[in-house]
Amino acid sequence: MRTHQCGALTQANVGESVRIAGWVNTRRDHGGVVFIDLRDSSGVVQVVVNPETEECFRLAADVRSEFVLQVSGTLQLRPEGTENPALATGEVEVVVQSMSILNKALALPFRLDEDDVNEPLRLKYRFIDLRRSRMQRNLRLRHSLVRLIRSFLDERNFTEIETPILTRSTPEGARDYLVPSRSNTGSFYALPQSPQMFKQLLVISGFERYYQIARCFRDEDLRADRQPEFSQLDIEMAFINETDIMQLMEDLFRQLFQELIDVRWPAQIPVLTYAECMRRFGTDRPDLRNPLELVELSDAMVNEKFNVFKKPARAAGCRVAALRVPDAIRLTRLQIDNYTKYVSQFGAKGLAYIKVNDPSLGREGLQSPILKFLSDESINEIIHRCRANSGDMIFFGADLDKVVNDSLGALRDQLGQELGILETGWKPLWVIDFPLMEYDAKERRWNSLHHPFTAPKAESIHQLEHETQNVRSRAYDLVLNGVEVGGGSIRNHQIEIQRKIFRLLGISEESMEMQFGFLLEALRCGAPPHGGIAFGIDRIVALLTGQTSIRDVIAFPKTHRAYCPLTDAPNEISLEQLNELALRIRPSAQTKSKTQGATRR
Ligand code: AMO
Ligand code: AMP
Repeated sequence: MRTHQCGALTQANVGESVRIAGWVNTRRDHGGVVFIDLRDSSGVVQVVVNPETEECFRLAADVRSEFVLQVSGTLQLRPEGTENPALATGEVEVVVQSMSILNKALALPFRLDEDDVNEPLRLKYRFIDLRRSRMQRNLRLRHSLVRLIRSFLDERNFTEIETPILTRSTPEGARDYLVPSRSNTGSFYALPQSPQMFKQLLVISGFERYYQIARCFRDEDLRADRQPEFSQLDIEMAFINETDIMQLMEDLFRQLFQELIDVRWPAQIPVLTYAECMRRFGTDRPDLRNPLELVELSDAMVNEKFNVFKKPARAAGCRVAALRVPDAIRLTRLQIDNYTKYVSQFGAKGLAYIKVNDPSLGREGLQSPILKFLSDESINEIIHRCRANSGDMIFFGADLDKVVNDSLGALRDQLGQELGILETGWKPLWVIDFPLMEYDAKERRWNSLHHPFTAPKAESIHQLEHETQNVRSRAYDLVLNGVEVGGGSIRNHQIEIQRKIFRLLGISEESMEMQFGFLLEALRCGAPPHGGIAFGIDRIVALLTGQTSIRDVIAFPKTHRAYCPLTDAPNEISLEQLNELALRIRPSAQTKSKTQGATRR
């Protein structure tokens, strides 16, 4: 149908007869001459329709945006002064000799160059939204990323193996998506939250280096970086330790960054313990582009009279910490009130602060409603530990560890963004030495911080039963610019430790055999030491393409209510189908309206 692609036409083709096809990007009628920007997957070229080509000129009058055209003509240089340097083909244009409309298009629900179209509408008309050059770029980069991953791993003897989608629950911490079985009525498959147990079985089967670009399904609260179904690069290896896999993955990222965005991955990246991350940043996925850090004050406040600080300084599981923000003295009362409101959503009961006019004057050089409560000694210690300078603002958190970490961690992110103090570039780090388990005080039980197959560190094993809170795991997360892009661990390959961990998690012998019997059996049949990792492909692509939401790097994503405006999924099913599955829907559970915001304009 065509001799050339629109975006491939250059000065070298001038004088040639060309036939092209594509969509109408824009049509401009310049009284007497019609200009059409024709677009195909390679780019855009200007087409000129003169009145002399009578039939074409008549057709061109009817042409609208997104009509599909086939055009034949001669490529010529644009007249001097009419070149468009913004366009790769801006030096040339196709002078039309014949033209046909291959298909018409309705008036669009939004223009392709329109920026603030509401997202449900974009998703409903995704086939139009995906025509935008930004979306085309994102999905193409995604394709290149997956291609590079495959060749990198192939060169290193990995085997790509698919694992079941209809399976049973994997404990990754979210709710399962369930699929009713027709041939076993009353029973359900779970969609995999990850291929975790299957990949362990594969290395136990002798596939020492497994990988898969795997679809995972998790029914959890959705955010900009979370979708109900997403893709992982899933990896598992036999006979490795932490450094083997961490180094290999850094090599992979080095190659991806080099080839996809021409950026040099650092020769060495920081490896921080979980404890250090929490102490310095209040989070286990710190954005290291942000220079702000938390300062520990707990031990300095035990003898303070001010109760807001003294109580948490003395209590176990609590902390007092400061966040010094340079040059932030200009923050207004209103801004501080807003930050106080912001941290209250993480449970903070207030947000004490001190403005530093001149630290050398001690108390006299400071401004704050809490100064009158604090001793000179405490004030001096705060100035000293925070290394306070003139113009600084110091914020304080004093509460349960979790409340202080969550609120000051979030405030650090917020201020980093708002004050424009983030360094540019890429700041990856590994986080290690996670606690193996965390205590859920409400449910009064231990939960795995990663998943129950994660091995404890050898030196922690003796603490499993009696000092569970102190047990560190052999897990590692890769964090990039504040995003957790991947995580994995060395696994329990010895059945006794695996069983002990299940028991600590409150899983009875009986349900252990029922839920995990096949894995336990495999561990009894010659399981090698093994470990692995999984990366969020969507998150990596979003970072590399500079998108704030992973929805912009997924062809057909769902809304924050796990709804697809394009296909109207999930949808009700017929009574017949329900009967076949022996299911009945409670009348009070009828689907609520899902289509808000996606009406055609
Ligand atoms: P984990 O649960 O940490 O580990 O998942 C690995 C990575 O997957 C990405 N990710 C998500 N991306 C988009 N939407 C979601 N809802 C979502 N949830 C997770 C993150 C995360 O780092 N089986 C283990 C891996 C292992 O131990 O080898 C696992 O799934 O980038
Ligand atoms: P109050 O004595 O409750 O009026 O608090 C005095 C100051 O300390 C106010 O600025 C509060 O915002 C702040 N504040 C109160 N509780 C906390 C807390 N848990 N952490 C940090 N600041 C707090």
